[in-house]
Amino acid sequence: MNLRQESMLKAESLSDKVIWVTGGGTGLGKSMVKSFINLGARVAISGRRLEKLEEAQKEISRDRILTVVCDVRESVQVESALSQIVDHFGICNGLVNNAAGNFISPTERLSHRAFDIILDIVLKGTKNCTLSCGKYWIKNNIPANVLNIVTTYASTGSGYVVPSAMAKAGVLAMTRSLAVEWAKYGQRHNAIAPGPFPTKGAWDRLFPKVMTKKVSLENRIPLRRMGEHQELTNLASYLMSDYSSYINGEVVTIDGGEWLQGAGQFNQMESITKDEWDILEKIIRSNQKKS
Ligand code: HXC
Ligand code: NAP
Repeated sequence: MNLRQESMLKAESLSDKVIWVTGGGTGLGKSMVKSFINLGARVAISGRRLEKLEEAQKEISRDRILTVVCDVRESVQVESALSQIVDHFGICNGLVNNAAGNFISPTERLSHRAFDIILDIVLKGTKNCTLSCGKYWIKNNIPANVLNIVTTYASTGSGYVVPSAMAKAGVLAMTRSLAVEWAKYGQRHNAIAPGPFPTKGAWDRLFPKVMTKKVSLENRIPLRRMGEHQELTNLASYLMSDYSSYINGEVVTIDGGEWLQGAGQFNQMESITKDEWDILEKIIRSNQKKS
């Protein structure tokens, strides 16, 4: 039996949880939602594209998933999303800040708007959801649990993804700060720092196919393979469950040892020429339109 693809928790481990997963319609968010549902949770998924949310709902569970269109950058939309979740399920006692925006680019090629858009989705979006949920939990005396999906370069920094690195570092600081400040209200705040786990959203923007000739991802990883979604979702489920009830303020790295082998995930792109960046940018922009 390949345990990497098996759920590691008991079937009802999350049966008392109502978990809001931002960006839950695609990629790792969607995989986490599947695992949470299989473990008995009720789940709200949000994102900007209703069709992606509805596809995920249809595929995973029609009756235990609520879809909510919400741009995490907008605090008014976030407040409204939380109200819809509480109206629908009667409570919300878990939040996974998973929504993100990112693409590789030399920093000097970024406009202010391009830089801000990543900061706003990742840092401000995570703040918006955490602040709205946190106040609701405190006001209603609800013990709750927050899981923030960061990256290994939240700690190391990395060239070519500077807005993302800055934003994820801020999210990590918030995780550790609130783990202390809001523990008295029965809240836990933890983070996962994944290495590479293939998803369309990330691969279109960070590892477009032409790059594989230049950069070998597997060679950067001591275990010489990418992560499998179930490996991450087992960890996420554990951290969202009461099995981890004494873990607070932690960031758990799950990367096959990658960051230790070469801190700064994109630093090796030094070898990409300006002409090659022109081509890459065109491909990424066209991928973004399609995805
Ligand atoms: C330079 C770029 C660019 C590129 C966009 N821009 N792509 N600049 N190189 N490749 C600029 C645009 O010109 C514009 O600036 C500004 O960024 C905003 O672009 P829009 O397309 O108008 O924004 P929007 O439609 O809101 O899209 C946001 C986005 C997009 C972040 C650009 O990629 C998106 O929706 N992403 C969501 C999903 C995602 O990113 N998933 C990957 C997460 S992976 P100007 O000045 O021209 O107006 C991840 C993993 C980390 O985080 C670790 C991996 C191992
Ligand atoms: P993904 O599929 O592109 O997921 C990003 C999600 O965020 C999408 O569902 C997107 O939905 C949502 N989103 C983006 N902007 C938003 C906004 N303004 N408001 C609301 N939702 C928004 O990529 P992924 O690889 O699964 O990434 C998931 C998380 O894992 C991210 O936090 C990422 O940084 C982290 N991560 C991934 C990897 C990896 O290897 N895949 C590694 C390290 C960390 P809409 O576009 O519909 O809004």
